[in-house]
Amino acid sequence: MDLFKYEFGYGWLYNYGHLLPIAVSGVLLLVAWRSEWPRWVRAVAGVGVAWGVAGLLIVQLVLRFNLPMMLPTESFLASGQGTVLDGGAGSGRSSLMVLLERPQAKVIGVDLYEGDYGIGDNGPERLMANARRAGVAERVEARVGDLRDLPLEDESLDGAISAFVIDHMGRESRDKAFAEIHRVLRNDGQFLLVVVNPDVWIRTAWPFFVHHGYWGSSGSHDRWQSEVESAGFEVEERDTIPGALYVLARKTFSPARLTRASSRVSRVTLEPLRALSD
Ligand SMILES: C[S@@+](CC[C@H](N)C(=O)[O-])C[C@H]1O[C@@H](n2cnc3c(N)ncnc32)[C@H](O)[C@@H]1O
Repeated sequence: MDLFKYEFGYGWLYNYGHLLPIAVSGVLLLVAWRSEWPRWVRAVAGVGVAWGVAGLLIVQLVLRFNLPMMLPTESFLASGQGTVLDGGAGSGRSSLMVLLERPQAKVIGVDLYEGDYGIGDNGPERLMANARRAGVAERVEARVGDLRDLPLEDESLDGAISAFVIDHMGRESRDKAFAEIHRVLRNDGQFLLVVVNPDVWIRTAWPFFVHHGYWGSSGSHDRWQSEVESAGFEVEERDTIPGALYVLARKTFSPARLTRASSRVSRVTLEPLRALSD
């Protein structure tokens, strides 16, 4: 596992900030030991070092800030083939997840590449540089675009993912994004939604983490499932992975859509015939 192979651009504080408490508490521990300061000072310094080490390991090895994400479920794109949208692809952690774990698949990464999402120099070039490092650049295309108004044809994709993006949006934007993902997927296409879940890993690494519903319930599976279902998807699976929860859904054949479509067909084809026969 090469922790320095990729440059996803997440800031130093996120990636290596725990080195600060390790250094400060480590020095304090050393001085307290040598100078025979009271035992409680050594205990506090020891806890500081232990927390710093735990936080660093969690960020690097469990939350994988500097590594491609791992596919949360084997059920996503089980055929291993097809073209997948990565909505809000950023510097490529989520795109590389699909490209590495589904070696026959292609990815179209779409991102606004505006605003501050913690990624330095966020742009298509950074995503493509990471794809080259992984040896998968020929299977990915990075486009600038808005998840709420995707620059993609109707029913043109076999799968879609969106990781740590839609949970940054307000309700109206989320509804537009889900509707757009539904529009661009072929019938039977799958959608994998991944959002931050401030679980024990995140709260251990960052006890003062105040984003993504730390104080509220925005991480609830039920809420995400109902929003995804409102967009017309059928939810197949939901679960958690360290630091996140995911919902796997499918665009299913919809009888209501068939009824609408067949009534359009009968208007177009049968009514002129009826008019002729009258
Ligand atoms: C926290 S980053 C996640 C990036 C990547 N999916 C990952 O897991 O590393 C959020 C990304 O969403 C993008 N984003 C935010 N709003 C967007 C929108 N409306 N359309 C497309 N991308 C958007 C940001 O530019 C940023 O790159």
